[in-house]
Amino acid sequence: MRDVTIREYRDTDLDACRHLWRELTQRHRDIYGDSSIGGDDPGRLFDEYLENLALVGPWVVEWDSAVVALGGLLVEGSQAEVEPVVVLSRCRSHGIGTRLIEHLIEEARRRGVRSLSVRPVARNAEAMACFRRAGFSFLGHVEMFQDLVRGDRKWKRGITLHGEEYRY
Ligand SMILES: CC(C)(COP(=O)(O)OP(=O)(O)OC[C@H]1O[C@@H](n2cnc3c(N)ncnc32)[C@H](O)[C@@H]1OP(=O)(O)O)[C@@H](O)C(=O)NCCC(=O)NCCS
Repeated sequence: MRDVTIREYRDTDLDACRHLWRELTQRHRDIYGDSSIGGDDPGRLFDEYLENLALVGPWVVEWDSAVVALGGLLVEGSQAEVEPVVVLSRCRSHGIGTRLIEHLIEEARRRGVRSLSVRPVARNAEAMACFRRAGFSFLGHVEMFQDLVRGDRKWKRGITLHGEEYRY
């Protein structure tokens, strides 16, 4: 793809990255049908993210001189997590997410990371497909939980693991 570059985040990217964080939140609001996810000002969560001591990067993707994607790594010794990866909604399905994920994998490798994880919510099938294609083919911990406020959310059926069905 022409005119696509990946570079380290700069202070001048703050507004663009807050917007990307809002779009990341919007994705979760959409798939769960819950507009309360992320609170009143989800863009501010990016500012909190920048304070994370484990953060390496983040990196942004520029397409025709505009910031269209954000990705980072949380590194703890020889383990790291991809967090987050988000592409502007109007720029998705052009291979940008895949390019960014490949870049993050390479940055992790350069830092001696031996195990690289990513933790999408189970309902985010689109993101999971993208990560799977990029080589995330092992399953580590699985988060099991109970919804104690029943009726708030409609859970989907159809994920089976070790012969047991789970809602997600
Ligand atoms: C998940 C996400 C980062 C993927 O980014 P993306 O830029 O759309 O990803 P890609 O374009 O690389 O791949 C996605 C699709 O484009 C296709 N594609 C890949 N390279 C392509 C290319 N050069 N040209 C056209 N299409 C391409 C892929 O086959 C894939 O198609 P499909 O999913 O319809 O089968 C993006 O959907 C996103 O920001 N989602 C919201 C935030 C989110 O959920 N993040 C993950 C949280 S863990």
